[in-house]
Amino acid sequence: MDISGIKTIEHDVLIVGAGGAGLSAAIEASSRGVSTGIVMKSLLGKAHTVMAEGGMAAALGNVDARDHWKIHFRDTMRGGKFLNVWRMAELHAKLAPDRVRLLEEWGAVFDRTRQGLINQRNFGGHRYPRLAHVGDRTGLEMIRTLQDHGIHQGIQVYMECTGLDLLKNEQGEVNGIVCMWRETGNFTIFKAKSIIFATGGGGKAWDVTSNSWEYTGDGFAMAYEAGADLMDLEFNQFHPTGMVWPLSVKGTLVTESVRGEGGILLNSEGTRFMFNYIPDRFKSETADTEEEAARWLAGDQNARRPPELLTRDVVARAINDEVKAGRGSKHGGAYLNIATQRSAEDIKRKLPSMYHQFKVLAELDITKEPMEVGPTCHYFMGGIRVDADTTMSSLSGLFACGECAAGMHGANRLGGNSLSDLLVFGYLSGKNAAEYAQSKDSHSNIDQDQVVAIIKNATAILNRESGSNPYLLHEELEQNMQKNVGIIRTRETLEAGIAGIETIKESYQSVRAKGASQFNPGWHEALAMRNLIITAEAVARAALMREESRGAHTRADFPGEQGYWHQYNIVSSKGDDGQMHLRKAERKKPDPELERIAKSTIEDLEKEVAQERTTVNT
Ligand code: FUM
Repeated sequence: MDISGIKTIEHDVLIVGAGGAGLSAAIEASSRGVSTGIVMKSLLGKAHTVMAEGGMAAALGNVDARDHWKIHFRDTMRGGKFLNVWRMAELHAKLAPDRVRLLEEWGAVFDRTRQGLINQRNFGGHRYPRLAHVGDRTGLEMIRTLQDHGIHQGIQVYMECTGLDLLKNEQGEVNGIVCMWRETGNFTIFKAKSIIFATGGGGKAWDVTSNSWEYTGDGFAMAYEAGADLMDLEFNQFHPTGMVWPLSVKGTLVTESVRGEGGILLNSEGTRFMFNYIPDRFKSETADTEEEAARWLAGDQNARRPPELLTRDVVARAINDEVKAGRGSKHGGAYLNIATQRSAEDIKRKLPSMYHQFKVLAELDITKEPMEVGPTCHYFMGGIRVDADTTMSSLSGLFACGECAAGMHGANRLGGNSLSDLLVFGYLSGKNAAEYAQSKDSHSNIDQDQVVAIIKNATAILNRESGSNPYLLHEELEQNMQKNVGIIRTRETLEAGIAGIETIKESYQSVRAKGASQFNPGWHEALAMRNLIITAEAVARAALMREESRGAHTRADFPGEQGYWHQYNIVSSKGDDGQMHLRKAERKKPDPELERIAKSTIEDLEKEVAQERTTVNT
């Protein structure tokens, strides 16, 4: 195969993915004077980041001055069931406030407090109102601000361009990637001294998901194929509130801000059931009566948070249990009511997108009637294994940030921690990838054989005379994951899930897309399927291996957290035999000071923080 006609584009740093993490990384890298390109399979501004609607968590202390990085850190560790990489959670909590303030400097138009500060709202698992927000369109505002800033800074943008696979030099360092332009079907080799993956998650492996079409696990799969380690793939977050009706929009996100603004969950009997699901660990911080929850809503700082603001794993399982017990809503979810809690004017002002979403998609007025909601696959806590400080993966030259990187959120992510994660770790990736690129004098040579193999793999799908249909395979995978690798798992369901994935893998060997390479959605779907299958396999195998229930991973046959499993992450990688291999990787011992902070009682930590402030002010 002659590849001499294939265009080559060179950058010092190349970013794949243009959501909040990718754009933050690109801005930071280019600010350091290195040539920076950003490749995306969709259009600039259309990233899935917009699906984080309710806000970005940062201990700014604008609404409750008691907030502090230590308390944000403690909340994050407890939310992640102590499986987070300690250093990542520390960096996140410490750096988030400045990154949010920088976003404001770059033009993000946040909602304001009466004093004119960035307004912050309540969200599940956060001790104080902590989410800096723009109504319920915060992710959108983040993307708008970052893309505007990045473009003016001179980042080179490549839209509708899909990454196929990474290239490596003789030393095993990543030195490029082969991409395909979706419109023409042409290939391009991007040479880079370092590459940052900011490719998001893989929720499109499930039938009911808040994720958009781009979320096909591309970064996980490309990193895996190139030999990088994946970690913690068993932790998949099911956001408790997706739309359940009408069916055409099932899974679409209903922002947690609805609960943050006071929305309550009811079953078909009208019972506010979350009072029955408060875990021991959160009892001292959660209101256990309607009266106390009402006082909280009225602004009483001494009242504890309502149980609807427990962490997402707890709320999603509670809705699931109510439905299973026959107390579900008309279309198989729970009722979420904000109409009885807030005035119509407040609802339209604080939740404009939700108001319109339900009006347009469900012909329902949320200022008058309850919504119907149920769990929807939303987020991957696991992903590419990275070093906490540099964000470099186990492959030299490959960095990862945002949802595609593992570690920050442990076994469960708190709402709002993803947008701040994108800002913090996007920045760290951009900085470190730029420094890595600056340490290289020149681009290393591209191995032509690797390029040929990647292109042949891709075009084989078009050149088969017959074979399996990629759309049908995708549907089969979604059904399989939904049924067997969902919210509640057992050995039996997981083994069935893995058997299903093996069958799909087999059929994928002969997948075929009809037509030519110019804008051919069937071909794009087939290419994405390879990534979804690898992602699904890593999830199902890790879920089978982790014999405990922790955070978002619930094993009905192994209830409760197990001390033994707290010591391990599960790492998946591709073996020399071409098969997926899983191993338990012992976790690093935490820094004693961080451990002390995370394990303090909230009362002690609040006293400590207040004491520190008094000392600084005197
Ligand atoms: O519910 C939401 O607005 C989602 C936020 C998040 O995933 O962080």
